[in-house]
Amino acid sequence: MTSPEDRGLSRRTLIKAALAIGGSSALTACQNAELSGTPSPTDGEQYPRGDPTALPDGQHSWDEYLVQSVHGTETQSQHQLILGLEYTGSVPPTDEDRETVESALAQLEQAFRWGSGADTSGSINDGLLFLIGYAPRYCSSVDLEVPGLQTPETMLETLGEDSSLAAPFDAVLLLDSDYASILLAAEQALFSDADTLNGLPVDHRLTDQFDIVERRTGVLGKGRPAATIDNEDIPKNAPLSMGFRAGFENSLPPEEIATRTEGPYPGGTTLVLSRVRTDLESWYDQPHEDRRKEMYCPAHTHEEVGEIGDRLGSDSKITEENVDSIAELAEEHGIIGHAQKVASARSEDFTTQILRRSEGVATDTVHGSTFNFSSIQDRTEKFVEIRTAMSVDSYDLDVPEDKHGIVSYLETLSRSTYFVPPRAARALPSNR
Ligand code: HEM
Repeated sequence: MTSPEDRGLSRRTLIKAALAIGGSSALTACQNAELSGTPSPTDGEQYPRGDPTALPDGQHSWDEYLVQSVHGTETQSQHQLILGLEYTGSVPPTDEDRETVESALAQLEQAFRWGSGADTSGSINDGLLFLIGYAPRYCSSVDLEVPGLQTPETMLETLGEDSSLAAPFDAVLLLDSDYASILLAAEQALFSDADTLNGLPVDHRLTDQFDIVERRTGVLGKGRPAATIDNEDIPKNAPLSMGFRAGFENSLPPEEIATRTEGPYPGGTTLVLSRVRTDLESWYDQPHEDRRKEMYCPAHTHEEVGEIGDRLGSDSKITEENVDSIAELAEEHGIIGHAQKVASARSEDFTTQILRRSEGVATDTVHGSTFNFSSIQDRTEKFVEIRTAMSVDSYDLDVPEDKHGIVSYLETLSRSTYFVPPRAARALPSNR
């Protein structure tokens, strides 16, 4: 007989696989697994509906609608669907194209509530958070100049990486929820033939304006990496595949830091999407103590951090002193910490400059362990500054590469950049 724990695991495995596969049968399987015991008919209202009159102006305004963790920090949603899109509508877009895109996206807001709703005391994001962003190639095709939006090729070259790793998307739709079935249902409504969405009729789709070029799916949360990746070294409860907690009050800046106040359509942001392969074999081939120091800072002790960062509470405990003494600590320990390095790129008042938004262990890939990383910032150069602070060459210190934060365990598979307009201008923006 299978134990309740095994049943829980196989249920999770099924949900992950269903999201990765996509399609209407996957949606039914996923709904059965996620909503078991819910008596409502499959075409009726199954999840809380949204109130389109009460939405924030920013498509990227998620913080107030995310679940608060026990540590009092905002928790990213557990399931992630990233749709890389090709624009197939008219250039420049017609009013009809725009109306269709706006109506199709507005349907999602009506069918599902924005995240966990305005009351973040909820323990689950049983709604949907999403944003649509437009790549530089789309923007230049419609003469939309967006200062502070680098092309992915420029970004890759600046970082000394191969420019062919730029993802060939014109736009991206990023969707997050704690229910994978909500993500699948939204995709089916926008790009397939679903007649209803959470019990509401589907009147508009994106099929005349966009084709899906690539689907990426990801999962995040306590215990999920160990259950997803075939590597016995990943601690059972760790929320990330590299075994430690990330995302603290002091290291996730307020959304205003990432919100654009200048350029076209102020109130928007820019999105940087990366896919990173993580070399977990080499990472876990080191003592836990080294990993702890490489991930956070050599000055962080086991008493402060715990096994997986559980003792850190709501603060990463990275201080200006940790940053100022990178050289001394490196000499003493032979190690530099990832969090310590990236905090060296904070502003004058020691505020982090990019907001890591939706991260997850990729579940759509079979090639080793891969990670979807995304961040929002007012201009993409800030991402580059922070990524540069991770690189070995930025420091003239005698520290081996494999003790230089986490960078030597990461391999970039893809990068892309997007302009994310405010909600009111999200449908095919152009210079008009
Ligand atoms: C893919 C593997 C990665 C893992 C497992 C990881 C993990 C972590 C952890 C554990 C922290 C410290 C806790 C916290 O402050 O959240 C951290 C901080 C941070 N990481 Fe990463 N990280 C990864 C990649 C990246 C990349 C590619 C970037 C982008 C440039 C990045 C940017 C940051 C930033 C900005 C911070 C906060 C810095 C601050 O406190 O000001 N990380 N990361």
